[in-house]
Amino acid sequence: KTVELTPEAASKGGYQHFMIKEIYEQPNAIRETFEGNIEDPALIKAAEMISSSNRIFLTAAGTSYHASLVFSKILARRARLFSYPIISSEMSYVSSSLQSDDLVIAVSQSGETYDTLQAIREAKKMGAKIIAVTNVLGSAIVRESDFSLYTRAGPEIGVAATKTFLSQIMLLEMLSSFISYEIKTIDKDEKNNILNYLKYAPNLLQSSLEASDTLIPFLINFHKKNSSYILGRGLGSAIAMEGALKIKEITYLHAESYPAGESKHGPIALIEKDFPVYIVSTSDAYEIAGNAIEMAARNAKVIVVKPADLRLELKEDKRNIYFAEMPPSNNILELEPFILTPLFQILAYRLAVERGYNPDKPRNLAKTVTVE
Ligand code: G6P
Repeated sequence: KTVELTPEAASKGGYQHFMIKEIYEQPNAIRETFEGNIEDPALIKAAEMISSSNRIFLTAAGTSYHASLVFSKILARRARLFSYPIISSEMSYVSSSLQSDDLVIAVSQSGETYDTLQAIREAKKMGAKIIAVTNVLGSAIVRESDFSLYTRAGPEIGVAATKTFLSQIMLLEMLSSFISYEIKTIDKDEKNNILNYLKYAPNLLQSSLEASDTLIPFLINFHKKNSSYILGRGLGSAIAMEGALKIKEITYLHAESYPAGESKHGPIALIEKDFPVYIVSTSDAYEIAGNAIEMAARNAKVIVVKPADLRLELKEDKRNIYFAEMPPSNNILELEPFILTPLFQILAYRLAVERGYNPDKPRNLAKTVTVE
């Protein structure tokens, strides 16, 4: 076997593609996010700005929007605060309702996405304050925001975002614990507990990558249809949406995600024999076992992706239900995105390679979309 000696091959560090290199880099990326921000007064400043504002909006596109959804669920749980996640390209339809005491958190890996830049411009016109959460110092969104936080994940080359997603989640979860402490819905011990768990998250993420690798051959066999559902409730619904996006972006197979409770309101009509249904099971979700059972009863092939210590009551027939056991989360919601996301990233990557596509350069997609 010959070894390619091009600069590109060298920068892939022995991996076949940037995407898989970046997937495996994730434990280090989120460690950098944690260590680079934990002592930074910027986090306290941002938490103060957010707590003293009236309403909190989040605006983002693509994967960054899914990180915003994760933040919104965690903040509701810990701070008992509702935040409004708005897809960047939809901001102009609601921005007239913004007021000068509202605050918008713009989440963008590149800091250059046109839609998100436009969204913050609209919000600024209404007098709202803007906090940017990006991976790129000095980017356009940073320059036009009142304040910024940095994910410090290092450069990401693969078009499909992976390590920047989990870095955004790490930073936003740290921010959520600071806000919750600031507004006194958690005390100092609870805040320190959450931060201690987050400090441990890189190890869990590493174990999750290993567990996912082991399951991939089985899942590739399982994923034999042109379409699949990836479902969750609560936090799991946000992780599921990111899973479906990864599959669509690089395998060109249809994958649909919606909150699992909606199944009976339409989507279950599509279920036929061996239709793949993934159920992302998080510790905030009730009734998710029922969704697994109703799909399996219609002969879907159901994979429940869950932390190993999360109990799921499946009293009835378990036929057609399989389990992807991931590392335990100890019921700590903040840890679950790191535990449950990698399976879908690696599955999408392996499926794409299996189907003969280059996951680093998906058709019709760009890493950063700076046009309307
Ligand atoms: C593009 C990329 C996506 C990314 C989205 C938002 O569509 O292909 O991977 O999630 O832009 O990018 P941003 O840089 O704003 O996070």
